[in-house]
Amino acid sequence: MLREADTDTASYFALSGPVGNPLARCGYRGRMRARLVVLVSGAGTNLQALLDACADPAYGADVVAVGADRTGIEALARAERAGVPTFTHRVKDYPSRADWDEALTGSCRAARPDLVILAGFMKLVGPPFLDAFGGRLINTHPALLPAFPGMHGVRDALDHGVKLTGCTVFLVDAGTDTGPVIAQAAVPVRDDDDETTLHERVKVAERALLVETVGRMVRDGWAVHGRKVRIGR
Ligand code: GRF
Repeated sequence: MLREADTDTASYFALSGPVGNPLARCGYRGRMRARLVVLVSGAGTNLQALLDACADPAYGADVVAVGADRTGIEALARAERAGVPTFTHRVKDYPSRADWDEALTGSCRAARPDLVILAGFMKLVGPPFLDAFGGRLINTHPALLPAFPGMHGVRDALDHGVKLTGCTVFLVDAGTDTGPVIAQAAVPVRDDDDETTLHERVKVAERALLVETVGRMVRDGWAVHGRKVRIGR
């Protein structure tokens, strides 16, 4: 449940429309700050990077709510320490996945987000969520999409023997890690890497990429033409 509403910042984006709409365009109007809702499932280091970035007024955004699909995670503790309202919806508490999706959509909508960011959120969102936030729903993945989508991007890249992997920030569509790519960063694979060491190095790049990309989007706007996303005017 959303614990409190944030009324300090006002929404300034025009809705960007569906992904792939050539007219899609969002823009920064100069004075107001973007409202970010961040969804999490785990450690929340990407969330922390966003919280830290938002502490700088020049960044242009505020995390106005953090949502989770489970309790007892460090990501929620990070939000609480930062004084950000949180909500949690566990799938098992709802009669169906569709009911869970509606509840998640409702809590996010109540926070009036300009952007919704899936930062290590380990659930696929359904049609109501995509209808509500499509085109302004961002995810981060620890591999260079379209290579190695899914739950085990780091392990799959390592098992495949690639020498270069990385991370991808992308717009979410109805598929699994299939949406238009917004930004990517490469990370070399070392001969002695295991999944843990490689993921830790990917996450360093991922946090920097997410912060930089979200900041550029909220300050400069973005446009989507087919699969191509361009930040700035
Ligand atoms: C990130 O690597 C994300 O891409 C993956 O899980 C990790 C989440 O890390 N899906 P954190 O919870 O932000 O620390």
